[in-house]
Amino acid sequence: MGDQEYILGRSEVDRDSWRERNRSDHAVYSTSLGSSLLCRPRRMWQKISLCFTSSRKATNRKLICAALVLVILLVIYSIADSPHRSFMSSVLCSSLVRGQPPESVFRCTGADNSTIHHHTTNQKNSENRLRDGPKVLVFTETQHSRLGKSITEILVANRIKYKMEVVGKSLPLLTNLSVGKYGTIVFENFERYLQLDDWNKDLLEKYMRHYSVGLLGFMPSHEETQVGAKLRGFPLYVHTNMALENASLNGENPVLRLTRAGGTVTGSLPGTDWTVFTPDSNSYIPLEWAYPSITHYAQEKLCTVILDKGDIDGIQRLLFGGNLDFWLHRLLFLDGISYLSVGRLSISLERHVLVDIDDIFVAPKGNRMTADDVEALLESQERLQELVPGWKFNLGFSGKYYRKGYPEEAMGDEKLLENVDKFWWFGHMWSHTQPHKLTQKELEIQMQLNKQFAVSHGIPTDSGYSVAPHHSGVYPVHEPLYDAWKKVWNVRVTSSEEYPHLYPARLRRGFIHRNIMVLPRQTCGLFTHTIFIDKYPGGRQVLDSSIHGGELFQTIVFNPISIFMTHLSNYGNDRLALYTFESVIKFVKCWTNLVLRTIPPLQLGEKYFHLYPEEADPIWGNPCADHRHIEIWARNKSCEQLPKFLVIGPQKTGTTALYTFLAMHPAIVANYPSPETFEEVQFFNGKNYFKGIDWYMKFFPVPKNSSSKFLFEKSATYFEGEVVPKRVKALLPTAKLVAIIIPPGRRAYSWYHHMRAHHDMTALQYTFYEVITATDKAPRLLRDLRNKCLNPGMYAKHIERWLDYFPASQLTIIDGEELRNDPVSIMNDLQRFLNIEPFYNYTEHLRYDKRKGFFCQVIEEDKTKCLGRGKGRIYPPMNESEAKVLKDFYQSYNVALEKLITRLEYSVPTWLEDDLQ
Ligand code: A3P
Repeated sequence: MGDQEYILGRSEVDRDSWRERNRSDHAVYSTSLGSSLLCRPRRMWQKISLCFTSSRKATNRKLICAALVLVILLVIYSIADSPHRSFMSSVLCSSLVRGQPPESVFRCTGADNSTIHHHTTNQKNSENRLRDGPKVLVFTETQHSRLGKSITEILVANRIKYKMEVVGKSLPLLTNLSVGKYGTIVFENFERYLQLDDWNKDLLEKYMRHYSVGLLGFMPSHEETQVGAKLRGFPLYVHTNMALENASLNGENPVLRLTRAGGTVTGSLPGTDWTVFTPDSNSYIPLEWAYPSITHYAQEKLCTVILDKGDIDGIQRLLFGGNLDFWLHRLLFLDGISYLSVGRLSISLERHVLVDIDDIFVAPKGNRMTADDVEALLESQERLQELVPGWKFNLGFSGKYYRKGYPEEAMGDEKLLENVDKFWWFGHMWSHTQPHKLTQKELEIQMQLNKQFAVSHGIPTDSGYSVAPHHSGVYPVHEPLYDAWKKVWNVRVTSSEEYPHLYPARLRRGFIHRNIMVLPRQTCGLFTHTIFIDKYPGGRQVLDSSIHGGELFQTIVFNPISIFMTHLSNYGNDRLALYTFESVIKFVKCWTNLVLRTIPPLQLGEKYFHLYPEEADPIWGNPCADHRHIEIWARNKSCEQLPKFLVIGPQKTGTTALYTFLAMHPAIVANYPSPETFEEVQFFNGKNYFKGIDWYMKFFPVPKNSSSKFLFEKSATYFEGEVVPKRVKALLPTAKLVAIIIPPGRRAYSWYHHMRAHHDMTALQYTFYEVITATDKAPRLLRDLRNKCLNPGMYAKHIERWLDYFPASQLTIIDGEELRNDPVSIMNDLQRFLNIEPFYNYTEHLRYDKRKGFFCQVIEEDKTKCLGRGKGRIYPPMNESEAKVLKDFYQSYNVALEKLITRLEYSVPTWLEDDLQ
């Protein structure tokens, strides 16, 4: 579903009121005055005829009646010629008269056969010396400069890795162990490259020659116009501040790969600050030309993008005389990156496009397809098949509304079913309700009804694909929808615009949840209400510019797989969808060498995750961070049921003691214990994460007076988990984090004894010394145990990872030795860090227990409750050789820890000072 929710499953009155609302807002029918008059309703005729049949009150009454008729005729006439025609036609008339569907104004004038230049190199050596999957190094003017932003946005949209560097006095490291890191160098402002000091320029140019890496630069605009000025150090002359029009490409230029010389882009080019180039050497080949807009310039074509083949100094450069506001430059930019990296940064030329038509049988009366519209759909599909092998529209239906339109529309429904095998089909909800409002049982009933309808009308039910109205239930995940989908339809693939968020579109991604592939869906501007071109938001020119190089065109160019959602109403009325897709596909064919294909959704899903296997694991976001997500989240869910802080570990530093002390506080609420992991939930670090956030939330009470309660959980393995900080940041961006550190060697030793106490076979088999001295040639189980034993103690490395995602103000690091010896002051500090009220006086509630040798909870005047036998275990002290191995092992990590701790303005723990002596 698009942006307009159909209120179905409620009464027909509701439905009609939606329809009228929607129509009077947006719809315009081309019903002629004649047809409106022929269809006047009976009531009106009765009133008018009454006027003339009552003969006794003769003249006056007749005059009034005549005036009445005149007024009615005038009203009908004016309405028939106004944006309310559709409303009138549906009230007065059951027959639909449609206007002419729009026709494409675009003609491709490029040569039929164009060459695709493949960007490859014979210089095997230099290729080998570059790292696999090199990055683009982008030098920008500032962190937020406009062109710099456009550059990085295109790179992100095309999933090309880059490093952004604000141009300055020094260069970033270009190599790593003699391996080149960057495949293309980009300067947002080419003059900054010219202005580099000799040392840096030399260094950069040596790098480019050595690794066969080229440079792409944009000419900046200046207030002062330069005419025929020579570019410093190059046999190239520039003329700046030009206004230009009618751009075309040089089909012979080897940079063209994705881009095809499609003829002329007619009209003014964006901006009036273009630079044009005049070369004085054969090393230069024009890539793009345009004509001056101002007539007093000679009407010769001027070079606006130029390639320096590197004949003079061995470096290839591509110079742009205009920025990326011109759509064609966005394509040339991608080709430039590919060419200058000799193919190492090329994107694929294959594109898959699938168009879903949702709301089949659903749209309200007057907005549906007639038999003629279905005919037009089939014809369009055939034309598209010529351009895109395999093209088939993918139809999503809700059987409840079959034949519920006007008679002509009912014939349209029938015609769709006559041609059932010409399309792909997917089942929707029976009454089109939003899934997040329904239970699994209700969902199953809905789906079953639709399935029965499909079976009895010969509609295939095995596509394995479905979508949800309004993306509801897909993301944020409504588990009952996934269950019902699997059970009733065996759904294995769906699509949504909402993951991770609707905007920015270039960041939309896919994920797999419980074996259902969720593919990113793209936006094409066609919704339930965009049904007439002259009423298209912003006017026809907005749609046309989206098609002719704008958003829609770029969506197809930048995304290897595009799934678009359209609606039945876009294929009746003006048939705007047919116009849109035929036009954009023709435009893509004209201006690119992309190979377009359409395959069924299931294959598309497999293709997607084959291309992007790294996307399969979801990253659960916080539904409350996006109002669209809250709207499609079940009412009984609340972000208040998520923790406000986490104790992240690592293990064996006193995390259980801290957890217990925190849970004593009247305003703090701990998670319910997990039956699988004892007290710990362990959500963010392992397989539990894939159970989804509903599963996680079940560990916390539904808050009554939410804001005054501090929910938290403690999972001591979060600390060192590679993916954990990223996941926590996505779901709990404002959460506070509590880490505890003790001497890392002591921690390792305690952990080893913990494993032995839990009957770990490897720990029982090997001595502590054997574990900590195991080499990489040791048996795998021993190596694994060694890593788990030693890794968490590399504190600085792990804390830095957390700080990549969270500001230091959200993290506190507790000295575990102090927690053990003086828990009251630690708990006081912690209350202040967490901003918890009321302040809890731990002096009254914690007491040192001589028998246990630790602080314990005061239960009664003379009674304490200590942690169980698993905490504060008795084991022999560590021997000297073990201590020595650990001291050496942790030396560099402890140095880094001291630096980090000082940077974060903590006082350095005594044990760390001792360790570093
Ligand atoms: P040992 O059992 O090796 O002595 P965790 O709860 O993170 O697994 O940490 C367990 C460690 O917490 C214990 O390790 C113990 O030294 C320490 N600890 C700190 N304060 C404690 C307390 N009040 N009661 C019990 N153990 C405590």
